[in-house]
Amino acid sequence: MKITLDITRRESPDAEPYILSAAFETVTGSETAAYALTSLNADPERRDVNGKPFPPIRWESSCLQKKCGACAMVICGKPMLACDARLEAVARGGRVTLEPLKKFPVIADLAVDREPMFAALAEMKQWLEEHGEVRPKETDRAFDASKCLQCGCCLEVCPNFCTGSAFYGTAAAVPASRLMAVTNDAERAALYRKHVYNGCGKSLACRNICPAGIDIDSLLVNSNAAAVWKRRRKGGNPWTL
Ligand code: SF4
Ligand code: SF4
Ligand code: FES
Repeated sequence: MKITLDITRRESPDAEPYILSAAFETVTGSETAAYALTSLNADPERRDVNGKPFPPIRWESSCLQKKCGACAMVICGKPMLACDARLEAVARGGRVTLEPLKKFPVIADLAVDREPMFAALAEMKQWLEEHGEVRPKETDRAFDASKCLQCGCCLEVCPNFCTGSAFYGTAAAVPASRLMAVTNDAERAALYRKHVYNGCGKSLACRNICPAGIDIDSLLVNSNAAAVWKRRRKGGNPWTL
């Protein structure tokens, strides 16, 4: 299938964006956006639809197996992993648009600086200084939370998140919920209230966007119950409702 890729490009963080249109032909039907970008960049004779040569497209990837979150971008209007976006499935009228995530500073082309998301995790103390053990009842939820790739797709659709605000969004709430499954720590709960609960509009726009398939509703509900409503069994873990 012949597909036209409309790629938003920017030479540097402050440069004006422009659209590069390049043709790509699928053969097996399973080619992803990541495969197309890799193929275009590997072709020294690459040209746009007008026959004009263009320099390699800057984008980020590592695992190419939906495990690292680095290749997150906006594909046909929806935040997705480029290594998980099959071109034939997402194409509209034979075209696929590729844009950088808008909630992070652009480095160049499709590469963004996700450092604010990682800094938020440090701010929320996402590590254990004490012994922690997941109770059997919470194993499934803790495991679900552990699947977070820190891709940032949930932040892209969140109406309340913007870089620099005190609200850190689902990308912080999900890892936080994992630690809340093993600790009963008042400071951690206070950080959750400050950086998640207080700024969250409960719109659940982040509900079905997660490429890791995390049940975000369930994690938010249980973390809110523990950190805000302080529901806990006497002497037990805050997640034990
Ligand atoms: S529920 Fe709404 S405001 Fe809260 S994290 Fe999800 S998208 Fe953002
Ligand atoms: S919760 Fe899902 S969408 Fe959000 S950062 Fe983690 S893996 Fe990505
Ligand atoms: S390159 Fe790792 S998730 Fe796509």
